[in-house]
Amino acid sequence: MNMRLQIAILPGDGIGPEVIAEALRVLRVIGEFSNIEFRFAEHPFGAAAWKRTGVPLPPATLEACLRADAVLLGAVGAPECDNLPREQRPETGLLELRSQLGGYANLRPAVAYDATAACSPLQASVVSGANLLVVRELLGGLYFGEPRGIAADGSSAFNTMRYSVEQIERIARVAFREASRRRKKVTSVDKANVLETSRLWRQVVTEVGREFPEVTLDHMYVDACAMQLVTDPRRFDVLLTENLFGDILSDEAAVIAGSLGMLASASIGGRVGLYEPVHGSAPDIAGRGIANPLGAMASAAMMLRYTAGLEQEAGDIETAIRLALEAGYRTADLARGGAAKTASTTEMGAAVESELVGILDRRCSYHAV
Ligand code: IPM
Ligand code: MG
Repeated sequence: MNMRLQIAILPGDGIGPEVIAEALRVLRVIGEFSNIEFRFAEHPFGAAAWKRTGVPLPPATLEACLRADAVLLGAVGAPECDNLPREQRPETGLLELRSQLGGYANLRPAVAYDATAACSPLQASVVSGANLLVVRELLGGLYFGEPRGIAADGSSAFNTMRYSVEQIERIARVAFREASRRRKKVTSVDKANVLETSRLWRQVVTEVGREFPEVTLDHMYVDACAMQLVTDPRRFDVLLTENLFGDILSDEAAVIAGSLGMLASASIGGRVGLYEPVHGSAPDIAGRGIANPLGAMASAAMMLRYTAGLEQEAGDIETAIRLALEAGYRTADLARGGAAKTASTTEMGAAVESELVGILDRRCSYHAV
């Protein structure tokens, strides 16, 4: 099959460029072994763009992203931007990019690999075998609700949590569809004992659930879910929730995978898919070559799966990641389990790359005989 994929690369800030360089390695290998032609074009974004142009999302960057087949993003955020007005902040650029690309469904898988179960601060007996997918609504709720602001005299501030039936229906459908390809269970997380948005959420999710009789649905309050995630994570398959709850719960779910550096994400359902590791720009370790590139590499795999339908290629990258971990490679964030081979960012990237070459070589020679 001949396929050409134009990928907009936004390395962003802090460790973003370091982890994106490793994600590009695996995509190049996939390109060499297949008829998929990748075209990568880098664009300024985040604090890096703000320094050069005064805005975090320059119009040329946005246009390039809208023209691309997919966007692969590193991370945004820098301490020197903390006190900027909202419209100049890197995080505002990210929210603007998400909303322009239109991906309302943010998928964040958290998997406890056997090899890294001991890296989790939780007991291995609790996390072993856990494999869940957070489906986070990405374009609604408190992040985007109007009105918002600070009173003129500075004495109060306010945000609005708002959800329409349509916004809830479309994210619920994504969650049920994902669940029907997994262990067929959706846990919808809300705060229906207090919030009107949550009462509507629960009602609409229940109705959408009737379209998917093969999937079991249960509802959980967000506070209870926060506890269950770290006491009994294996009970979850797909966790469906609104924007802010999903932001918080997905960072929490990272302890299942051993480190925030492991988590990948896909934002789909809009005009162009956006793929980014869940972690931030980590300015404290930027430039030291010790960041974990696996979240970014796994995001590249999600890009192949969701934007291009390349399930086998995506699976090969994910298998290569697992094999590198089984071979003992650990970046510093995974050191808790007692690292067999302490790896730098590039060493981890190279380990995954060589596992991937091995997988693809074996498949080629098998086809050749
Ligand atoms: C995330 C991040 C972002 C969010 C920030 C950087 C705006 O925490 O992707 O989880 O809150 O969505
Ligand atoms: Mg977050």
